[in-house]
Amino acid sequence: MAASTRLVAIAGLLALLVCTSNGQLSPSFYAKSCPNVEQIVLSGMADAIKKEPRMGASIIRLFFHDCFVQGCDASILLDNAPGLASEKDAVSNKNSARGFEVIDAIKAQVEKACRATVSCADILALSARDSVSLLGGSNWTVLLGRRDSTTANQTEANNLPSPFENLTSLVSKFAAKGLTAQELTVLSGAHTVGFSVCFAFRTRVWGPEPNINISFAMARRQNCPASGGDTNLAPLTTPNTNRFGNQYFKNLMVGRALLHSDQELFKGGAGPTDGMVRRYGKDGGAFARDFAAAMVRMGNIGLKTGNQGEVRLDCRKVN
Ligand code: HEM
Ligand SMILES: *[C@@H]1O[C@H](CO)[C@@H](O)[C@H](O)[C@H]1NC(C)=O
Ligand SMILES: *[C@@H]1O[C@H](CO)[C@@H](O)[C@H](O)[C@H]1NC(C)=O
Ligand SMILES: *[C@@H]1O[C@H](CO)[C@@H](O)[C@H](O)[C@H]1NC(C)=O
Ligand SMILES: *[C@@H]1O[C@H](CO)[C@@H](O)[C@H](O)[C@H]1NC(C)=O
Repeated sequence: MAASTRLVAIAGLLALLVCTSNGQLSPSFYAKSCPNVEQIVLSGMADAIKKEPRMGASIIRLFFHDCFVQGCDASILLDNAPGLASEKDAVSNKNSARGFEVIDAIKAQVEKACRATVSCADILALSARDSVSLLGGSNWTVLLGRRDSTTANQTEANNLPSPFENLTSLVSKFAAKGLTAQELTVLSGAHTVGFSVCFAFRTRVWGPEPNINISFAMARRQNCPASGGDTNLAPLTTPNTNRFGNQYFKNLMVGRALLHSDQELFKGGAGPTDGMVRRYGKDGGAFARDFAAAMVRMGNIGLKTGNQGEVRLDCRKVN
């Protein structure tokens, strides 16, 4: 059997396994009802990234923040409404989560092609995958068939992982969503793209802080004063290339993580996840493969399928 044929066979077997063990989502969920959905989302994301290179990163983060609150059900997309406290106002999202207009524009295109068929949750899952691959990272098959929530949970959104947390508490927040320390480590590699506000990294660069390269700290202090400038931006990975690769892990190994939570994954060689960081820093292929697998697993958190929830017509509002 030729190598490529074997690869296809293995991929098919894997897809089958995922399908049967999951029972609900399927890569061909819209094959009949909306055959062009993947093409529409991809071209929408390509336009958005062309307009603003950071947008890919912003959409990837939106997907993470969606899945960690009530599951991947587009709850983060709901605006405030009577009886509904938007997750957009939670600490980790306020003035920070972005890209809602991009999802609205893609949803409008999808609605034009296939009315009331594709959920906002699936559009977000596809948009995040396309962001990664358009930025030069891996590409994977997205399992589809998620339903949208009719509720949001601002309280749970206020409990999203914070940049000030230690490894123990990050591991336990991921474990609460069924994800391992390895998945926490590889998914954090999304910080290979995008930016952070000064507020989130001030205490890291002003200290006292272990495991930081002092010249890196000095450089970052330039646009993040000890007080003020809370919304000034710095790249999560230096240099910022807007390309999805493994530079993030290389930086962790030399004390150049921007966030305290990032550096928690590598503590000078002695920490429980240090070995994984070394591996991903050395082997970009391993990072690409494991990242894709972990994104699929994250995309399976707290699924609503079948008759649960609804397919929203407007991602910002319950029908
Ligand atoms: C491990 C726990 C995590 C913490 C504490 C964390 C924290 C943060 C913080 C503080 C920012 C900056 C936000 C801002 O300035 O507005 C950020 C940005 C970002 N995060 Fe995370 N994050 C975590 C995990 C993840 C995961 C699992 C993903 C995706 C798989 C992700 C993807 C991103 C991306 C792409 C950005 C850049 C967004 C942009 O530029 O708009 N993060 N994260
Ligand atoms: C990702 O793979 C799909 C097919 O599996 C393809 O249609 C799409 O163009 C790929 N995305 C990118 C950005 O290359
Ligand atoms: C919101 O999430 C919290 C924490 O997971 C949970 O205890 C609470 O019941 C949820 N609230 C609603 C209204 O679902
Ligand atoms: C990590 O943070 C938690 C919660 O703030 C705290 O209870 C715990 O003692 C910390 N663990 C370590 C090892 O610092
Ligand atoms: C910090 O980084 C700089 C620049 O990469 C390097 O020259 C220096 O040796 C590093 N310092 C330490 C203590 O590792």
